[in-house]
Amino acid sequence: MGNSYSCITKDMTKKGKFLKFIICGTDTDIGKTLISAFFVRGLICHYWKPIQSGIGAETDSEVVYRLSKVNKKKIIKEAYIFNEPVSPHWAAEIDQNIIKRSSLDLPKINGPLIVETAGGLMVPLTRDYLQIDQIKYWDLPVVLVCRSSLGTLNHTLLSIEALQKRNIKILGLIINGKKHLDNPKTLREFSRLPIIAEFPSLKDISEKQLDILWTDLKMEEKLNFIFQ
Ligand SMILES: Nc1ncnc2c1ncn2[C@@H]1O[C@H](COP(=O)(O)OP(=O)(O)OP(=O)(O)O)[C@@H](O)[C@H]1O
Ligand SMILES: [Mg+2]
Repeated sequence: MGNSYSCITKDMTKKGKFLKFIICGTDTDIGKTLISAFFVRGLICHYWKPIQSGIGAETDSEVVYRLSKVNKKKIIKEAYIFNEPVSPHWAAEIDQNIIKRSSLDLPKINGPLIVETAGGLMVPLTRDYLQIDQIKYWDLPVVLVCRSSLGTLNHTLLSIEALQKRNIKILGLIINGKKHLDNPKTLREFSRLPIIAEFPSLKDISEKQLDILWTDLKMEEKLNFIFQ
């Protein structure tokens, strides 16, 4: 992988368009950060995790930085970091804070940007405002990360319905985890959305592995098609 702009990023820049999209998921812990790192590394782009609930061994921004190895300037500072790994509205309250919508305005980035949401779509950011309301306000398309295994049909189709009801553009699905014999077909048929990738379960999560997958999963080709 090159150390300057990726081909697709270069191509988009030439066309005066930038890839800006949101990585959201059907649940918490579904793989949004790993998939974000995959895209940030592949596209050599900016990353923003506006709301981080819980500061374990590493924040999501730190994981993306470690795996993508982009220039640190591309990892945009969180708007909020809360101590407890709970829903943002409650995490804020525990820290005697409150999430202000004005702090969540998109950073003005002259280039491609990936925004990772907090938890699933319907998690509250405040007592009267959901993550999905903020996605609608941002007015960017989304990539929906979902699990490959049992339970995904219900969660993924419900998530798609919620997004479509609000006219939020869905670029496609990333099915994350051990390959399933039927779920990708069923999700494609019911949703009529592109499956951008079936991202395998990795034993070794490394930069090298992400680079191999970027090529094997034909990501440049797929993104060129999606953003044409
Ligand atoms: N395909 C995969 N192979 C191996 N491990 C994975 C895979 N996808 C996710 N994981 C692991 O599962 C855990 C949760 O993934 P991740 O942090 O990306 O989820 P998330 O959706 O970003 O969670 P959050 O809602 O907290 O932001 C991490 O330890 C991650 O490394
Ligand atoms: Mg995450």
